[in-house]
Amino acid sequence: MRIDVLTLFPEMLSSVLSGSILGRAIGAGLIEVNPIQLRSYTTHRQRCTDDYPYGGGAGMVMFAQPIVDAVTDIDPEHRARRIYLSPRGRTLNQRIVESLAQEERLLLLCGHYEGVDERALELCIDEELSIGDYVLTGGELGALTVIDAVARLVPGVLGSEASGEDESFTTGLLEYPQYTRPADFRGRRVPEVLLGGNHADIEYWRREQSLRITLERRPELLDSAPLDETQARMLERIRAEKALIHLLEGMGAICASTSLAEADAFPKAWIDAFVPPENRKAAKKLCISGKRHVGFPYQAFTHGLMHGLEGEAANEALTRAMPENVKLYFPKEAVLIWAKLPQGFTPDALKTQLVLVDETTCLAYLTSGKAQLGPWYIQLDPPPQ
Ligand SMILES: C[S@@+](CC[C@H](N)C(=O)[O-])C[C@H]1O[C@@H](n2cnc3c(N)ncnc32)[C@H](O)[C@@H]1O
Repeated sequence: MRIDVLTLFPEMLSSVLSGSILGRAIGAGLIEVNPIQLRSYTTHRQRCTDDYPYGGGAGMVMFAQPIVDAVTDIDPEHRARRIYLSPRGRTLNQRIVESLAQEERLLLLCGHYEGVDERALELCIDEELSIGDYVLTGGELGALTVIDAVARLVPGVLGSEASGEDESFTTGLLEYPQYTRPADFRGRRVPEVLLGGNHADIEYWRREQSLRITLERRPELLDSAPLDETQARMLERIRAEKALIHLLEGMGAICASTSLAEADAFPKAWIDAFVPPENRKAAKKLCISGKRHVGFPYQAFTHGLMHGLEGEAANEALTRAMPENVKLYFPKEAVLIWAKLPQGFTPDALKTQLVLVDETTCLAYLTSGKAQLGPWYIQLDPPPQ
């Protein structure tokens, strides 16, 4: 791919074009970028390239002549897609970047000062592109943004072909969180699923995180994101969970998702409090080291740690086993747990907190065995008596 950049400040481009991935791609001949000095095309006696605007107003406007002559010289047969970087243009997004990456040639015109004479645009530019709703001093940073985003999609530019495939926007969603060593940084642990090496679980977790982050930060992307059936179900569940939290917040609860350390502390404490001593080792293995915190009481039942209990019988048995003021619901096909935190987690927490695993989360867990969520810890204000 060849990209010509028309600018009054070609030196602004050089350090970006020579560094890192772009520098290597250009060095390897995968893309060709030609910064072109517009001033060398001016026919003005003093080699000026701009003048005051007709009609008055602040700043200077770039002449049409050097621009039109440069474009005609560089692209006489109009083979390039010709773009003027401008805040008035269509806002750049990954779909536009993908379509630009299909072109053999791009020509990028960088304005400066107050912009360029409109007639230059009428005579030789195909479209205007903006890199966002703000105003820069010149089009060079916009041109570099376009070049960088497009270059990543040119085959061979990224080290591994796969590394561009699941980035933010490429999938129609924002990307999941990424982590690298160490596994524990200042007490913040990398989510266990990523350390486990089970690729199906990791994939599932990442897809879910992508949905969560997109729903939280850019919900409008979900209107057009191509979701498969699993993701559509995940999204439904996440929305149900949010609705539940909204409801609880409306009742005065402060809902926050747990850190992993908190999430782990609960099943440990829970098992110590409610699982018979002879079964605790097995329960911990089952509920903490594997799928961790989600659905652990259910696992305790179904794996024979509390024999023969299911549905309402489980509800009743558990409610009896819990401290006063605790309600547990184990409908046959789903789990909804409201519980004061067990003693040992901290006695004070018992009076002020509830633990909730919402029904939809547990339903998904029970049917897929893969949910990696919750429980949610809910701080009540004022504490229940
Ligand atoms: C100060 S701006 C001119 C702004 C122009 N007077 C207006 O209000 O639309 C100078 C140049 O910076 C570039 N530029 C500024 N903001 C941009 C953006 N958001 N996207 C792309 N290019 C931008 C354009 O090339 C523009 O000609």
